[in-house]
Amino acid sequence: MGSACAKVILCGEHAVVYGRPAIALPLPRLRATATATAREPGDDARADDVEVIAPDINARYWMRLQPGRPLARIVQLTLTRIGMSPDHADWRPFTLFLTSDIPVGANLGSGAATSVAAARATAAFFGHALSAEELSALAFEVEHMHHGTPSGIDNTVVAFEQPVWFIRGQPPEILAVGGALPLVIGDTGESTPTRVPVGDVRAAWQRDPKTYESLFDSIARLVTEAREALLASDLAQLGNAMNANHALLQTLTVSNADLDTLCMAARAAGALGAKMSGGGRGGNMIALARDPAHAATVADALLAAGATRVYRS
Ligand code: MEV
Repeated sequence: MGSACAKVILCGEHAVVYGRPAIALPLPRLRATATATAREPGDDARADDVEVIAPDINARYWMRLQPGRPLARIVQLTLTRIGMSPDHADWRPFTLFLTSDIPVGANLGSGAATSVAAARATAAFFGHALSAEELSALAFEVEHMHHGTPSGIDNTVVAFEQPVWFIRGQPPEILAVGGALPLVIGDTGESTPTRVPVGDVRAAWQRDPKTYESLFDSIARLVTEAREALLASDLAQLGNAMNANHALLQTLTVSNADLDTLCMAARAAGALGAKMSGGGRGGNMIALARDPAHAATVADALLAAGATRVYRS
């Protein structure tokens, strides 16, 4: 068995694709879980294949018949990584069964979490344990399928399951957060594949690199402020950085009316900061409450403003 958590981007999404830093946080209570179960070779005409079953997405298929599907791809990559194949003496046919609490296309890292959970279960089935670095690298290959030019932040935070300071192409820095961080996550209920806003930002950047580079620099300054605030547990400063980051994401046109409505509702309920999180154009936003009791008030305000689900972390 293997499982992996969801994530949120605290600050710095989109600019992180262009080499700026970003901070991501794990959501340990929201998880994808994979189980690899042996099939009896004698009863099985497909003893050299892996059966993949994911009821949440109505999927049931054989890995070698549909090798391009993300779960088939991560299983194959993992088998290659651990040196396992049907002609190996230790090969045993198996079924990989995957379930997840993480909404799909909602900017909560569902793709990375399913990949890491499936890689963990596949490796464990053959008695291997992969490191966070190895899991992150395998999931990164599949992330390319989800959104063409991934920075690598989703697979990193999900594989390490720690708050991370992330710069593309560099090893992540694990952040020692100074204190409790009462976050409320509000779902607009709209699902947009990350590659759409990421592709739109790329097209706009290609048309006007000077303006966009300067916007990315402004975001990077806020991410640095957020880092200081996070380490010092200065929630007011962190909230200010989140609000200012949301405004810059609006300028990048990756927010939308529903995300803006939820952010305004959270602030009206006293949230110290609120912003969209991840790719945008739907999916989830995050709000920073003053303390856990206040988080309940913010959660109620988000539901009253139309959030389809709220999570507290
Ligand atoms: C997705 O969680 C964050 C984005 O910056 C895309 C990426 O970094 O790959 C929007």
